[in-house]
Amino acid sequence: MYSEKVMDHFQNPRNVGEIENASGVGTVGNAKCGDIMRIFLDIDDEGIVRDAKFKTFGCGAAVATSSMATELVKGKTIQEALQVTNKAVMEALDGLPPVKVHCSLLAEEAIHAALWDYAEKHGIVIEGLEKPKNDISEGEEEEEY
Ligand code: FES
Repeated sequence: MYSEKVMDHFQNPRNVGEIENASGVGTVGNAKCGDIMRIFLDIDDEGIVRDAKFKTFGCGAAVATSSMATELVKGKTIQEALQVTNKAVMEALDGLPPVKVHCSLLAEEAIHAALWDYAEKHGIVIEGLEKPKNDISEGEEEEEY
């Protein structure tokens, strides 16, 4: 049911931990499943994501998607990091079962929340970035679960 890559990133998650004095920190949750993800980004003066770490209190797919999402944003510009969508994370993991797609949304939203935090701290506006939700289950249809 899970791809080898998902199992690998679940069993050997990359970038677990925190970044002290991170440039941006994003925390999002999903009230329906109770999972919470926090992503830390270290962004340099050139606007390049130098490091990314995560702490996830959640299911295996949430751990695997946080691991892959942090791998994907490292070395990227802010605009490129914004393109690390849940679809990109899922593709990099060779797919997720349909009931687990929402876990990858948590990763996308946590990255956006960390970028939002960075933008607020620096008084800048990141083009194309909307204010992230704290709870991604807000406003979603019941039948998606
Ligand atoms: Fe909710 Fe995976 S079950 S994030």
